Amino acid sequence: MTDALHSEKFLILDYGSQYTQIIARRIRESGSYCEIHPWSMEDQAIRAFQPLGIILSGGHRSVYDAGAPDLRPAILDLGVPVLGICYGMHLLTRACGGQVHPSDKREYGGAEIRAEGPSWPPSSLFSGWLGTSGHRVWMSHGDHVAQVPPGFAVVAVSQGGLVAAFASTSRPIFGVQFHPEVDHTENGADLIDRFVRQVCGAHGLWTATGFIEHEIAAIRAQVGSDHVVLGLSGGVDSAVTAALAHRALGEQLTCIFVDNGLLRLHEGEEVMATFARHMGVKVLSIRAQDRFLGRLVGVSDPEKKRRIIGHTFIEVFEEEAGKISGVRWLAQGTIYPDVIESAGGKTGVATNIKSHHNVGGLPERMGLKLLEPLRELFKDEVRRVGLELGLPGEMIFRHPFPGPGLGVRILGEVKKEFADILRQADHIYMEELHQSGHYQKIAQAFAVFLPVKSVGVMGDGRTYEYVVALRAVATRDYMTADWYPMPLELLKKISNRIINEVQGINRVTYDITSKPPGTIEWE
Ligand code: XMP
Repeated sequence: MTDALHSEKFLILDYGSQYTQIIARRIRESGSYCEIHPWSMEDQAIRAFQPLGIILSGGHRSVYDAGAPDLRPAILDLGVPVLGICYGMHLLTRACGGQVHPSDKREYGGAEIRAEGPSWPPSSLFSGWLGTSGHRVWMSHGDHVAQVPPGFAVVAVSQGGLVAAFASTSRPIFGVQFHPEVDHTENGADLIDRFVRQVCGAHGLWTATGFIEHEIAAIRAQVGSDHVVLGLSGGVDSAVTAALAHRALGEQLTCIFVDNGLLRLHEGEEVMATFARHMGVKVLSIRAQDRFLGRLVGVSDPEKKRRIIGHTFIEVFEEEAGKISGVRWLAQGTIYPDVIESAGGKTGVATNIKSHHNVGGLPERMGLKLLEPLRELFKDEVRRVGLELGLPGEMIFRHPFPGPGLGVRILGEVKKEFADILRQADHIYMEELHQSGHYQKIAQAFAVFLPVKSVGVMGDGRTYEYVVALRAVATRDYMTADWYPMPLELLKKISNRIINEVQGINRVTYDITSKPPGTIEWE
């Protein structure tokens, strides 16, 4: 793409590091567009990409392993600035004539580095970033640079005396042994920002406003006068897709919102209020509670419940979409992390369809083309675009809600009675989190219905009622998570309210399990 928004772009080559996506997020935060590609990207494709700069990620291999990922010749031939991180640095070392050795001991975790040499560093990447006293960084490596290549100078060393950073004295080529992209590296984002803006001279063209203008034009050009259908889930990604597509297409867009009976309290009304009444988007609200709940009778296996809910959604969506005449496109809230397969650091898998926009197979069956206007964005960018499009903050900063909804938060068999009880308890929990200001500090919070009865006492009598568990976690990536240290006074208030206000619950517990070993959801 050669439009203004994408005219300055960075190429990140992925060598398998768990942090590769974070590098991309840092570059975006510096206001530049970037893409992650597998290290095996062909030379021709690298040249055609026309990067303003290239970053080589870390990786868990040793450059001397048989079959280890290597450095494509185009990377150095292009003459654009290159920053190698960890494994990327080792590849640069070898390619430019230096030496990499295995270390006796692996450096993992926090470390301190300092600038090396009184007159160094002169390069714009490191000057002023590194002091001569300790600078805190995050290390994760076995091999190390034993000898920098000819024409390169050591810029920083670790406490153990190992090379922590180097730079070519004649070309804009840099290597860092540590990971500037992670939060644990002091001012690490600043180092990447310097690479982007100072070394490569990027102008910060990647903005939410620029993206919106560009996408509106692109959607109009793609869709022409066709009609588009979109499944609104109440989640951030589909909401922002709807707002953007509506801005571009107006009446040519129809959204379908399916109430599966497993939504949070007032969720349906809120979606209709925001989109239909406030923004004037055409939304069909489909009440399909009975169909979903009917199919779930007698089913208690979580994966089976997920499948039933997913299939029923597709069925309902397909029926409703089929009633709209002239539909040629299906808009989806696919975002960049869905496009790149992050697990194991492998990238380039571009056909992943989100489970909670689960319309698998539907585009083919209905002969619909896919419109995915957010597929270049990270979640934080989606949020910025959503706010700029005028979506309410409460919708943009909502915790994630799984596609099967309360279906996986009612343990075992799902019953309407259980869903009604859970909805009320969950609503009280959310209300109190919002009121106390804790909601935004938590990544995900929800209540879980446990279909067991325990004894209690209320007034003069004994009760024998169900249990609700409260869950709240802090996490950035949802792959690992810590249980949230909820203030005891707040827990007390929430528990009192649930027991007093929700009929059918006489016991509330708080989940203090982190992930791993627990998962975030209970099923
Ligand atoms: P776990 O429970 O695996 O959850 O630690 C990680 C994140 O994924 C969400 N999740 C789901 N999202 N469909 C979804 O759309 C699902 O079936 C599903 N299961 C878990 C979970 O809420 C958390 O954010």
